[in-house]
Amino acid sequence: PSVLILNGPNLNLLGTRQPDVYGATTLADIEKICADAAAALGLEIAFLQSNHEGALLDAIHAAKGVHGGIVLNAGAYTHTSVALMDAIASVELPVVEVHLSNIHARETFRHHSYIAPVAIGQICGFGAKGYLMALDALSERLVTS
Ligand code: DQA
Repeated sequence: PSVLILNGPNLNLLGTRQPDVYGATTLADIEKICADAAAALGLEIAFLQSNHEGALLDAIHAAKGVHGGIVLNAGAYTHTSVALMDAIASVELPVVEVHLSNIHARETFRHHSYIAPVAIGQICGFGAKGYLMALDALSERLVTS
């Protein structure tokens, strides 16, 4: 089984981006720890990042029939994108929503997620470890096609 780990806007800047909020871990570091954890769980992973909403939509569409589920950190599109919500609802793949920071402890505009209603669950506030928690949770819920 295979899992798509999809990262949205500005997450390519992790490590240097607001380290007080997001920590010093880079996206490459996260990819490495995810690859190690996936191997231990017997999963394959595809790791993708884009700053473009349409590219994220395309990746979600393309995941159907290829991946058994998606770990998604949609970055700021979490709080704005009806299109991402619709895409997830359309492909009917299990999605675990991840955020490094605790979005509920931050500005009010970060409290609402368009991803949450179409995700099987949300993990936030645990930094990079959240990706591992998501992989673990998703491994029990993967769709096999
Ligand atoms: C984030 C939280 C979002 O509110 C923010 O726009 C991000 C990162 C997180 O991982 O904590 O870009 O998704």
